[in-house]
Amino acid sequence: MNDQPTSSNRGAGKSGTSGKPGKPHRRPKKDPARILAFEVLRAVDERDAYANLVLPPLLKKARAKEGFDGRDAALATELVYGTLRLQGTYDAIVAACIDRPLREVDPPVLDVLNLGVHQLLGTRIPTHAAVSASVELARVVLGDGRAKFVNAVLRKVSQHDLDAWLERVAPPYDEDPEDHLAVVHSHPRWVVSALWDSLGGGRAGIEDLLEADNERPEVTLVARPGRTTAEAVLAEVGEDSGLPGRWSPYAVRLTEGGEPGAFDVVRTGRAGVQDEGSQLVALALANAPVEGSDSTWLDGCAGPGGKAAMLAGLAAERGAVLLASEKQTHRAGLVGKALAGNPGPYQVIAADGTRPPWRSGTFDRVLMDVPCTGLGALRRRPEARWRRRPEDLDGFGPLQRSLLRTALDSVRVGGVVGYATCSPHLAETRAVVDDVLKSVGGAELIDARPLMEGVPALGDGPDVQLWPHLHGTDAMYLALIRRTA
Ligand SMILES: C[S@@+](CC[C@H](N)C(=O)[O-])C[C@H]1O[C@@H](n2cnc3c(N)ncnc32)[C@H](O)[C@@H]1O
Repeated sequence: MNDQPTSSNRGAGKSGTSGKPGKPHRRPKKDPARILAFEVLRAVDERDAYANLVLPPLLKKARAKEGFDGRDAALATELVYGTLRLQGTYDAIVAACIDRPLREVDPPVLDVLNLGVHQLLGTRIPTHAAVSASVELARVVLGDGRAKFVNAVLRKVSQHDLDAWLERVAPPYDEDPEDHLAVVHSHPRWVVSALWDSLGGGRAGIEDLLEADNERPEVTLVARPGRTTAEAVLAEVGEDSGLPGRWSPYAVRLTEGGEPGAFDVVRTGRAGVQDEGSQLVALALANAPVEGSDSTWLDGCAGPGGKAAMLAGLAAERGAVLLASEKQTHRAGLVGKALAGNPGPYQVIAADGTRPPWRSGTFDRVLMDVPCTGLGALRRRPEARWRRRPEDLDGFGPLQRSLLRTALDSVRVGGVVGYATCSPHLAETRAVVDDVLKSVGGAELIDARPLMEGVPALGDGPDVQLWPHLHGTDAMYLALIRRTA
């Protein structure tokens, strides 16, 4: 069970083993929702695409065609996200139903199988409908020979419900807790291990976290400071479809899902889509006590501009100016769009934060929201957990340290730096902060918890780790550091 298949070892199964690879039928596409879901899974596997970027335009195109309605869109969406989230569990179940290693099954066949397993074990679709629709899908996209294989495997899968399958395919918790949790909650084992190291505690907490990672997150809006208010956003969204944020006074939660871009307040940029964890991070940095002047702020990793837009609005309210800097030019362009309409002055530049064009000691407040593995945002990017590798940490580590050093160099004595990640992995959070503080000197951690007033379970401090299962946010990390010399 240690070698849970992943998107890329799906790619290794080129030999095709699932029956005779008959020619795909050229019959009319009868089941557009399942075909569309299959196309998205192929794009995710073959092109490393992100489902949340590929699916919406395909849905839009399909809606424009006659016959693809809201129910089709809801089914396609559920099939894509459900299958990607639970891929690890479903792979283990399929592996138990075939007589060869999973990696020898062609990736498109595995996608059709997992779509079928999700319908059988993760939805209320009746068994016969789930099997026959999956076999029909296989005929259309894979051909008759492979459709027979799909039929045989799904009939085996349909003999048990999910709980019974988990009993069969997951090792007992007492024998191997991490492997058990990896199979039951569909996370790579190394991710379970890393999340548990950071979260601490016993079985209940990590199970709650892994479950929360598999839930569809609410869409949260931010009322951009100085441009609108949460009350005004809520009034536009309607009290039936929205709720105030749990923690951030600028947040509005869309309880009915839906398309945020449909709201005028979002279209005009007065509000944006932003997780409450990100809002809390920007607010904590903005409200951290600094000694002396408070007029010049920096966001050193600003793209695509969510936190920068919030900081720029807060800066404007205090007569301060934000410099938003981002290495990638096209992402700097997105920052420009997010900040357009800000009530006060700001500047956006494309610059490498490891070789900054500004002078040392320039800023009163600095945010470094560094590039990271994104293991704190698995709810939104269901495929990310299968794509990430432990080796990725080796690439991020030096960059994260270098960017934090820049931040500490850029802030004046008495000013404050916020080091943030959307990963709770200790190698990207505390290890980076501890290493850099040891090597730099003249800087001290300040307690970030009082700056998130009212938010419970923030840990022992002085840094803060948010969690999906405890706070309903992404697992954002924040350390606040004051420059003392
Ligand atoms: C986690 S994202 C920041 C998210 C952003 N703060 C927000 O709230 O929208 C990290 C950003 O850092 C940028 N980046 C990566 N390397 C960089 C570097 N050397 N200097 C500046 N920015 C960099 C990435 O392109 C990415 O846009």
